[in-house]
Amino acid sequence: MSFLRASARAAAPLRQAAARNTTQIPRAQFRASFRKFSTEVPKPKSNTVLYAGIAVVAAGGAYYIFSDAGKEAGTVVKSGVQAAKAKSGFVPSKEDYIKVYNRIAEIIDDAGDYDDGSYGPVILRLAWHASGTYDKDTKTGGSNYATMRFEPESLQGANAGLNVARTLMEKVKQEFPWISYGDLWTLAGVAAIQEMAGPKIPWRPGRVDGFAADATPDGRLPDATQGADHLRNIFYRMGFNDQEIVALSGAHALGRCHRDRSGFEGPWTFSPTTVTNDFFQLLFNEKWVWKKWSGPKQLEDKKTKSLMMLPTDYVLVQDKSFKKYAKAYADDQDLWFKDFSNAVATLFELGVPTQQFVASEPWVLPTVEEQQAEKK
Ligand code: HEM
Repeated sequence: MSFLRASARAAAPLRQAAARNTTQIPRAQFRASFRKFSTEVPKPKSNTVLYAGIAVVAAGGAYYIFSDAGKEAGTVVKSGVQAAKAKSGFVPSKEDYIKVYNRIAEIIDDAGDYDDGSYGPVILRLAWHASGTYDKDTKTGGSNYATMRFEPESLQGANAGLNVARTLMEKVKQEFPWISYGDLWTLAGVAAIQEMAGPKIPWRPGRVDGFAADATPDGRLPDATQGADHLRNIFYRMGFNDQEIVALSGAHALGRCHRDRSGFEGPWTFSPTTVTNDFFQLLFNEKWVWKKWSGPKQLEDKKTKSLMMLPTDYVLVQDKSFKKYAKAYADDQDLWFKDFSNAVATLFELGVPTQQFVASEPWVLPTVEEQQAEKK
């Protein structure tokens, strides 16, 4: 399964040059022609109008979707972005999305001394929190409407710190106003994983911008202080099983906890900007002890005291069913890459009606390094 693995990180200057080459001309044009539509989504006059229907006009009229309610009412509610798209007749192609991907990759790398030198982890966390609100029974939440743009969701405790990622993505949005926020944030999650040497994450566009009223109540994302039952409640609600819960948790190979965001502190691995199965290996190979401090309960590795695990990470080696998968992923990085890729691709499509997607199958987008190699 090594074919799923994205190649190693490209040198930053090369990547920046590549992104510059591929984005410059359209960016200027788009800015000029779309400016007045900005990023603000107009608020509907009432909930009746909001729920009356959503019509998506995209891909040059290649697909039209009307909700049942919309059909009945015969009312069309369009977000500013979709209106812009329809008005200009602009039809984004796969190549246009690759340009957005490249710009995101450039931003990920241009992190200076922020954290560990990459915005990748916090950007991935934005994509996950935008998607992980899904409830399969009520079919609410998920990545479709990008409701984290609005209060109170943007201010919820679980989303503390994600303003960093949203602000970065706003820059991209200004340059490519035709992309919906849901598509932008999930594409950014894909770019983060692929550009940090992770597996390919199949992805396709089609999400539409929603309204504050589409937001789901607080409490849909996992609480790191809890145990196995809680993890199952949260992830089963999204439609995932035990194996997928474990596979997804391996994302904690990346990034770190911040005292001023979640209250927890520190990274999980020694290589927090590269996708590896180290999270699983460390869970099994290190001795984990409860950290003695004034903060929330977390574990630290006995040897160096420089790494951490959340209570919800530690249950992956305590719960019998979770442990079986965690061990398999610790032993076989290719297996984890394959399962992680599948689970993340599913996660990023939660809450998006199939008819909304512009392609019947998700695309596998090339990394910046692969694009460079292709040009040679
Ligand atoms: C299993 C349940 C999960 C819990 C309880 C959990 C909890 C947390 C917490 C408390 C943080 C620290 C936030 C901060 O202080 O900045 C964090 C960070 C992170 N999480 Fe999770 N998470 C879970 C699942 C996931 C999943 C499924 C993904 C992605 C597929 C993910 C990706 C990340 C990343 C990349 C970071 C680092 C962010 C940064 O460096 O700024 N997590 N998570």
